[in-house]
Amino acid sequence: MNYRHHYHAGNFADVFKHAALVQLVRALQRKDKGFLYLDTHSGRGDYDLAAASSGLTLARAPEWPEGIGRLLSADPAGLSPVLRDYLEIIRAHDASRRTAADPDNASAPLRHYPGSPRIAQALARPQDRLALCELQPDEFVLLDDEFLGVRRTRVERIDGYIAIKAQLPPPERRALVLIDPPFESADEFTRVAQAVADGLRRLPAATIAIWYPLTERARSDAFLEQLVALPTPSCCAVEVAVAGPDAPQKLKGCGLAIINPPWQLAPVLADLAADLAQRLAQAPGGGATLSWIVPEA
Ligand SMILES: C[S@@+](CC[C@H](N)C(=O)[O-])C[C@H]1O[C@@H](n2cnc3c(N)ncnc32)[C@H](O)[C@@H]1O
Repeated sequence: MNYRHHYHAGNFADVFKHAALVQLVRALQRKDKGFLYLDTHSGRGDYDLAAASSGLTLARAPEWPEGIGRLLSADPAGLSPVLRDYLEIIRAHDASRRTAADPDNASAPLRHYPGSPRIAQALARPQDRLALCELQPDEFVLLDDEFLGVRRTRVERIDGYIAIKAQLPPPERRALVLIDPPFESADEFTRVAQAVADGLRRLPAATIAIWYPLTERARSDAFLEQLVALPTPSCCAVEVAVAGPDAPQKLKGCGLAIINPPWQLAPVLADLAADLAQRLAQAPGGGATLSWIVPEA
């Protein structure tokens, strides 16, 4: 477990994942009944971008300037409602952390970038509940600290794939699961597919969002095939590529496969992906796609 999300916090992939997460949570909140938000790979919950840009704690260049950094410098009037919604949550999180001793830093105009647990918690209603899982010991300590005393939120040092079996079905019978692994190991895609199978067996109506990297097309296609082979009620995959297949960078884009996507959400996420493919492009040949890998009945 060498992965540290700190290097990547606020990059193009985080922007896409987190802006989509906001819309997923809002869509589940169309119903009054509460739900469980299960974050299988939570990270630390808050990332200090100033530390990331000073190079004091990081051995390589931060990625946020080409992600959230570009949105912060865009004309706000030209941003879509979905991006404005996301940015408001990001800015509110940052503002809540600022103190007189922690003024604006020119190299990181936004200092505190929230991870997925903080974004979900910012939106949670009194009837919603959060279960946050992190396996890496140092990240877990930071996450645990971050959520100390936060109501209806449970932080656990547990393998996120095991947590799916432990947490589902929840008493609410409604759940939004975010699976966002580091993809360090060769069998990660297979573990995800197995975890999705476990989750659907326990709660067939669960909405499960899986983030995946676009490195080689064949790998992501094979993963989507694995999802199709499961008893998946419906599943769409929304992808954003910031570089074309021949570009030199390894991570050319990313996708979100969403099992049981809330009604009418897929086109919203497709528009978001298309917008970000342009705004956050790093090399020619990128773009965005929406595919219904298991169409809605
Ligand atoms: C991509 S990061 C998560 C980022 C976070 N979801 C966000 O959007 O802010 C993946 C995290 O999973 C943790 N991790 C790795 N393997 C894990 C496992 N089997 N179970 C739970 N956490 C794990 C890593 O330490 C890392 O913090």
